Amino acid sequence: MKNKNMGSAQLAALLDRQVPGETLDQAFYTDDALFQFEMDAIWHREWLFAGMSCTINTAGSWFKVDIGTASVVVMRGRDGAIRAFHNTCRHRGSRLCVGDKGKTRNLICPYHQWTYDDTGSLIFAREMPENFDKAANALQQVHVRELAGYLFICLADTPNAFDTFANVVTPYLAPHDLADAKVAHEMTIIEEANWKLVIENNRECYHCRSGHPELLNTIAEVEDVNDPRCPPEYVPKAAADQLRWDEQGLPHRLQANPQGWQVVRVPMYRGLSFTMDGQPASQRVMGRLPDFDVGSVRVLHFPNTWNHALGDHAISFRVLPLGPQKTAVTTQWLVHKDAVEGVDYQLDNLLKVWRATNDQDKTLAENNQLGINSPAYRKGHYSPSAEYGVMAFITWYLDAMKRAGMPE
Ligand code: FES
Ligand SMILES: [Fe+2]
Repeated sequence: MKNKNMGSAQLAALLDRQVPGETLDQAFYTDDALFQFEMDAIWHREWLFAGMSCTINTAGSWFKVDIGTASVVVMRGRDGAIRAFHNTCRHRGSRLCVGDKGKTRNLICPYHQWTYDDTGSLIFAREMPENFDKAANALQQVHVRELAGYLFICLADTPNAFDTFANVVTPYLAPHDLADAKVAHEMTIIEEANWKLVIENNRECYHCRSGHPELLNTIAEVEDVNDPRCPPEYVPKAAADQLRWDEQGLPHRLQANPQGWQVVRVPMYRGLSFTMDGQPASQRVMGRLPDFDVGSVRVLHFPNTWNHALGDHAISFRVLPLGPQKTAVTTQWLVHKDAVEGVDYQLDNLLKVWRATNDQDKTLAENNQLGINSPAYRKGHYSPSAEYGVMAFITWYLDAMKRAGMPE
């Protein structure tokens, strides 16, 4: 494959050569060295969505997140606090947690049973000298923050600011009370496509009309009523929803930040939920919401998550790169903690629209990758009116790569 294993000078030149409004060069989707640089420049530096806090709502529960060669354990302690640790034993480096999730009083290394408590302190190390300094051999902590039930981690020593994102987004999500919800279903799909193609595909609805018949039952193709493609009947519907939400104290205004995140509460085009008939999939209203008719709060945070919080359920998405042409996309469907499967919701009905949408997006991203892999691939042009979201992502991505500096 062309451009494989490029050097740092080539990489710097490649970054400088990218033109706003045009698609990226082939190497961005195929090159191993560039992918490795992204791991350092973006994935081991930016805040990443790890999972939902309600999945570890009891003391000692944990889940694992692998980010390239790094592996992180996110755990709730007996004090209720959530901590994140590098999943690497301080003895000889073995992985500590080998499963994806679990519950334990202490973290015990499977190799020689060094034992760490729920704060990461080393509490047991067999046959080590009397004067061995256990305190100096605690697990290495990873930065972790909770935002209205969403857990973000950052592998950098000194993370970028998180507070503005948290302060702006929390009021939109807080009434949905996702910290106290339950995951009705989790699904991970592996897409044979570069992670950026997965995000790019998510950032436009140019493909929705032909690609997503189920989703278009209830969402509008446009994000903004001023969009010339906006269906005329959506304008007064959206205005009435927004007026009601103002009275109910539910924030809805779009707030987008060049740091790579945005939040908005979007009126449904039709119905109340992402179901085939638009009716709620779960009969329990989420959190402290007044009713089901609250649109969908969409939270986006580059590089790896987009989310929808609706009146009756929420859907979280986590994207993790596995290789230059392989990406894991994990979807979680959340419902009210007291909602009972088969009584308050039917799982098939809850999953149907986004399971179909995910499958359709997987095919689109994989076809996109295959076409880019061809020697005939040339840089293309985005539609400014339909693909402004993709353009914003590419701008953020190139800035983040350049900010990180070139590898030596
Ligand atoms: S590597 Fe963990 S106890 Fe030896
Ligand atoms: Fe899509």
